[in-house]
Amino acid sequence: AIYGSERPASTGPNLFIDSQATPFLQAVAQFHTTQWQASASINGQTPQTSAWQPVYAPWDHSHQVGQIAWSSPEDAHAALNAAADYQAAWAQVAVTERADIFRRMAQLMQTHLAELVALCQREAGKTLQDSIDEVREAVDFCYYYGARAQEISEQPLEITDLTGVIRRYQRQPRGVWVCISPWNFPLAIFLGQISAALVTGNTVVAKPAPQTSLIAYRALELLYQAGLPKQALHLVLGAGEVGAALTSATQVAGVAFTGSTPTARHIYRALAQRPQIDTPPVLIAETGGQNAMIVDSTALPEQVVKDVLLSGFASAGQRCSALRLLCVQEDIAERVFDLLQGAMAELRLGDPRELATDVGPVIDQVAQTKLEAHLTNLGAKTHILAQTPIPEAYQQQATFVAPTAIRLQSLDQLGEEEFGPFVHLLTYRANELPQLIQQINAKGYGLTLGIHSRNETTAAYIEACARVGNTYINRNQIGAVVGVQPFGGQGLSGTGPKAGGPHYLASFTHLVECGVGD
Ligand code: SER
Repeated sequence: AIYGSERPASTGPNLFIDSQATPFLQAVAQFHTTQWQASASINGQTPQTSAWQPVYAPWDHSHQVGQIAWSSPEDAHAALNAAADYQAAWAQVAVTERADIFRRMAQLMQTHLAELVALCQREAGKTLQDSIDEVREAVDFCYYYGARAQEISEQPLEITDLTGVIRRYQRQPRGVWVCISPWNFPLAIFLGQISAALVTGNTVVAKPAPQTSLIAYRALELLYQAGLPKQALHLVLGAGEVGAALTSATQVAGVAFTGSTPTARHIYRALAQRPQIDTPPVLIAETGGQNAMIVDSTALPEQVVKDVLLSGFASAGQRCSALRLLCVQEDIAERVFDLLQGAMAELRLGDPRELATDVGPVIDQVAQTKLEAHLTNLGAKTHILAQTPIPEAYQQQATFVAPTAIRLQSLDQLGEEEFGPFVHLLTYRANELPQLIQQINAKGYGLTLGIHSRNETTAAYIEACARVGNTYINRNQIGAVVGVQPFGGQGLSGTGPKAGGPHYLASFTHLVECGVGD
């Protein structure tokens, strides 16, 4: 068997085939007891810190992964000052040299694949395949943004006016960026944001999600090893208080944020309310989705169910791209739901380090409690079609949530995004399709959409009417590949530009005139 064969080729670790499984798993197992540690890093130095605190795995709360020294708002200010001090010098470094650092970083991640996979499994609770994919995406970001930065710097933008005069424009860095990354892609998005900012000549203060600080710190060490000057990238660790210190500071030229829609709103307000701002900072926010899959009566039910399992329950549903709402034309709904019930009974929940595990834990107790409350709140007007039970061994001392398929009577029963392994089910009649798409659009999100139909006209109609960033036809709707499927949404799902796409780096730069020709 070949895992991952449905995806386009990438520059990272790509195929994982059975014959390689045993030696690779043995290599990963060498890191099953490693204890990592993380702290702030300002100019490569650890500031005077608070006490070290232990970090435990989400799939076993007695399994220690390492320890963290959390940062203070004062550390955040010191990091911003350090980033501001070095920015002009970093902007002078040739773009090829900056890109080379990220190419070396990509190679280093391949060399350290087993360790990084073990770290993703143990700290973030990601399954083996998810962890391999995580490193793969991180590698892709490093190569892709490096290559794009060189391209845009070597080919200045030329605009010819009506009289034939050519004006040339070059891109310059904006200054200091704050990069706030999520726990669900703790390596890939962490590196995606900071590589984009750094390779275009900005300096960075990064604040990863507190739940996955160890992974971020390990990536920082590898970046320094790859040759990144320690003054160019600084790290602070913590939650809201540290984030607020960063986003309220006047040194900040831009913020790249990936996380929830409410937090993005909060950051937006904080940036707007900064005192004495000369130039409002740029905000790039990638947030959530209330992502639908629309299945018409010509769809192949077996294919639909395979894609629902992956889109809805892989990564325990903790992807912004994940399927939340499955809408099936009523003619084939019972067949699809029957198959789904059967398939969900076969899903395996458990230790993410084991090859056989399909679904790992959710990230922490806060997430678990919120998801459980959602099921309770849905109440009597909904009906649970299928639920994969949590094995007894993982019911205590772990944060698992049972993958659940919930039948709704109407779309009104679906509120905000729930970030976990829940797929809501709805049926529709053929003549209700336009109204259904309108209602989905009216939720205000606009990230991914799945379409299953063997009627090209219907698929094209749905695609044209839906307001989303990424549409996937007759396949699953997660796992956009860097450089191939630029990823990002609109409305409540984010500001754009699409990550891993040709326009992403432009937002990290100013366009300045650099000459007139003829
Ligand atoms: N880029 C991821 C995906 O496509 C989500 O962040 O699943």
